[in-house]
Amino acid sequence: MKKVILVVLAIYMTVITVYGKVELDSCKGCHGQNFEKKALGKSYIVSEMSQEDVTNALIGYKDKTYGRSMKGIMVGQIKDYTNKELSETGIGKSIAFAGKDIPTYDDLLNQIKELKEQNQELTKQNQLLKKNKKYSLKDK
Ligand code: HEC
Repeated sequence: MKKVILVVLAIYMTVITVYGKVELDSCKGCHGQNFEKKALGKSYIVSEMSQEDVTNALIGYKDKTYGRSMKGIMVGQIKDYTNKELSETGIGKSIAFAGKDIPTYDDLLNQIKELKEQNQELTKQNQLLKKNKKYSLKDK
C-alpha cells in the first residue's frame, strides 16, 4: 500500500513539475542555455528583454497578437500554458535593470574599491574613537 501511494505521489509530482510551470529546459535548444542566443537566427536575445516584455511576448504568441515571421514556432512552444504560468517564467531582465545598463565588471570593481576605501576610513575613525575612550576612562 505504501508503495502505491509513493508511486502515485511520484507521478503527481512529475505532472506538477511538467505542467505546473513553463518547462524552460525545452527552450534552451533554440534560445541557448541562458536565453543568450538568437533562436534560429531570428528571435531577439530574450535575456536582454525586460521580464515584462518577455511576458507580453509569450502571452501575445498565445493570443496571436504578437510575433513575426516565425511566430508559429513559438505558439507551439507555449500554447498549453496559462497566462499566469507564462508571466512567471522569470526570464528577462528584472525591473531593476530594465531599460538601464547592467553595470559592467569595471563598474563593479570600482564600486568595490570605493567601498574598501570607505571601510579603511571607518576603521581608522573607529580606532581613534576607541583610543579616545581609553583616555577618557583613564581620566575618570
Ligand atoms: C524551435 C525553436 C524554439 C524553441 C524550442 C523556443 N523558441 Fe522562443 N522563439 C523562437 C523563434 C524563432 C522566435 C522568433 C519568433 C517570431 O518570429 O516572432 C522566438 C521568440 C521568442 C520570444 C520573443 C522574442 C522575440 O524575438 O520577439 C520569447 C520571449 C521566447 N521565444 C521564449 C521562449 C520560451 C520561454 C521557450 C520555451 C518554453 C521558447 N521560446 C522555445 C524559437 C524557439
